[in-house]
Amino acid sequence: MSDNNIQIFDTTLRDGEQVPGCKLNTEQKVIIAERLDILGVDVIEAGFPVSSPGDFKSVQAISKIVKNATVCGLTRAVENDIKVAAEALKYAAKPRIHTGIGTSDSHILHKFKSDRNTIIQRAFDAVKYAKSFVEDVEFYAEDAGRTDNDYLARVCEAAIRAGATVLNIPDTTGYCLPSEYGAKIKYLKENVKGIENAILSCHCHNDLGLATANSIEGVINGARQIECTINGIGERAGNTALEEVVMVLKQHPYLNLDTNVNTSMLFGMSQLVSDSMGIYTQPNKAIVGANAFAHSSGIHQDGVIKNRETYEIINPKDVGVTESAIVLTARSGRAALAYRAKNVGYELTKLQLDDVYANFLSFADKKKEINDNDIHQIIETSKAFSQIISA
Ligand code: KIV
Ligand code: ZN
Repeated sequence: MSDNNIQIFDTTLRDGEQVPGCKLNTEQKVIIAERLDILGVDVIEAGFPVSSPGDFKSVQAISKIVKNATVCGLTRAVENDIKVAAEALKYAAKPRIHTGIGTSDSHILHKFKSDRNTIIQRAFDAVKYAKSFVEDVEFYAEDAGRTDNDYLARVCEAAIRAGATVLNIPDTTGYCLPSEYGAKIKYLKENVKGIENAILSCHCHNDLGLATANSIEGVINGARQIECTINGIGERAGNTALEEVVMVLKQHPYLNLDTNVNTSMLFGMSQLVSDSMGIYTQPNKAIVGANAFAHSSGIHQDGVIKNRETYEIINPKDVGVTESAIVLTARSGRAALAYRAKNVGYELTKLQLDDVYANFLSFADKKKEINDNDIHQIIETSKAFSQIISA
């Protein structure tokens, strides 16, 4: 792995699967995991094995079939969780145990009714115990986003002393501003003893819509792994969207950070996850939404027809979308109508276009969106039809 390579840790099957109403069976999870492996993610978090027999079975089945990626199982800082995860992961070519504990004062006082030193000891013990099963152990400091940096650094040092290979710094509640999260990663990079022996990981939730921005700030400031889900699904407002961070890094090459993801599979991957989970993707979703490459206003359509880059910063083919869509509505202009008419077989002269356009507007005012069949009908019912020759 080069120093500029960002590891993509996909948690669609764990944090993503925590979406209310979503339940995937083992077969569906295996299909998604196989596809994630081909997509080129570096780590697949397959589940939380101790949470249910079904999750255990899924993590085990995924461990058996994944060829390239590391397969990871989540645990609390509890011996039995760790033992069960190790058992579920035993067939994985590259197993990782992901263990951790809450580190913010809120978690320490209210959730654990404990104190800071005891939490550090529990973090150390959990990592040490996980290391007795696997070499690759990731430690998470839950609610790191609201944990003060000085204490967080001490927790991280303990995890590294116990052998952690990755330190996950979750903004569990999606509270941090990008500058704050970036500064946290920078602080840890500069102040944690032994940090050269571990990589820092960003795990950002989207409660304020900042998950992608925070993850990007994290890697700009030295983190080398991003935890994310397809379509950004996950607890509450979700996790960092995989397709977004991957494309941000690809579209900004001067950042000099890249991933191993085959971006041309992103759209298909998004549809597979959305269909399997029965969770609809919002049309305006960045990168993979139905409207991400659709142009509907006349001014934009004219610009895109002249040169796609006028209004598109991503080539749709780069993410597996065949082409940009010129959507015909009453807001569309002549250029869009001529373009779509040509696609269905009519080359219109300027005069013919004027006539057909008038007919189109009265259709479009009645019908929200004009499809290819409507275009035939609009042309056939226009005054100029007898002179229009199919292209
Ligand atoms: O958001 C979070 O803190 C988590 C941890 C369990 C890694 O999902
Ligand atoms: Zn999370």
